Amino acid sequence: MQQGAGRRVSVQEVATRDGFQIEPGFVPTAAKIALIDKLSTTGLGRIEVTSFSSPRAIPALADAAAVMDGIRRARGTLYAVLVPNIRGCERALAHRPDELNFVMSASETHSQANLRMSRADSLAQLSGIIASAGGATPINVSISTAFGCPFEGEVKPGVIFALVGELVALGVGRVSLCDTTGVANPAQVNRLFRQARRNWPGLRFTAHFHNTRGMALANVLAALQAGIVDFDASLGGLGGCPFAPGATGNACTEDLVHMLQTMGYATGIDLAALLDAARDLPSLVGHAVPGQLISAGPSTRRYPAPSQP
Ligand code: COA
Ligand code: ZN
Repeated sequence: MQQGAGRRVSVQEVATRDGFQIEPGFVPTAAKIALIDKLSTTGLGRIEVTSFSSPRAIPALADAAAVMDGIRRARGTLYAVLVPNIRGCERALAHRPDELNFVMSASETHSQANLRMSRADSLAQLSGIIASAGGATPINVSISTAFGCPFEGEVKPGVIFALVGELVALGVGRVSLCDTTGVANPAQVNRLFRQARRNWPGLRFTAHFHNTRGMALANVLAALQAGIVDFDASLGGLGGCPFAPGATGNACTEDLVHMLQTMGYATGIDLAALLDAARDLPSLVGHAVPGQLISAGPSTRRYPAPSQP
């Protein structure tokens, strides 16, 4: 029997947030909206649309409000936005996101570089957001550099678990562990997620990997084997944090969905429609994208047999 055996796996598309935030060229607002609308027809259950970060910090997403107002929302798709602080939350809520993705960092140095805040200040911002958003808008917390930091190196599992404990105490129900600069390896991923699920069986964990060192899909498999069924991925394999040196693209959505489907997992996603959307990317961002399926095609692809001499 195939490993997936029809088990449901959910993929959140993050290209228009994690992907576009690091692009040197500004993707026009109308093109962002058109891409999200196309993605909304692929069966994706979740799309992280944009981020309400400081436009000075992330100029590529300065049009967050216009994008949120311009998209056509599909029934059955959840539209999330990233927020780094209370100000971002206030801005975001005016545009009715289905979920707020609050970002904080596991390492103090990356927290300062990315957010200009200590981890303690970040937690204080989160408490304020929970107080104001209340139960009305669900909150996911993404922990950056959960598997290692480009400034400090190793991030001990104890640091992550202490942080998750604080989040749970605040009432958070969803947590993403993010490998911001692609340093995680499959053994580490499997250990961390197994332990996390043992500690908090009721918490929904999402795995967020970057393919900086070619390990993203291996890490997905390791997380699957630890019982994780929620993944972030980025169309074309775009992505990266502008304040984490050496960051490159996320796990590529179409490559990930192809892997999951060929293994027998149920994603609910139309791979052909996803590939069609991915083919728009090079012209949108002005360069080739790292995803593999976009050039190789799915493994079911057949070539005409060579003619006999
Ligand atoms: N959206 C828009 N403006 C914001 C904002 C937000 N979320 N947060 C702060 N600002 C504004 C403030 O109002 C202030 O404006 P003013 O100068 O006109 O008064 C200015 O930005 C500076 O505010 P301050 O609180 O000093 O923020 P900062 O400059 O230290 O930046 C963050 C802090 C968190 C806003 C900024 O570092 C940030 O947006 N980081 C997010 C990075 C990110 O998204 N990384 C990728 C995700 S992994
Ligand atoms: Zn990321």
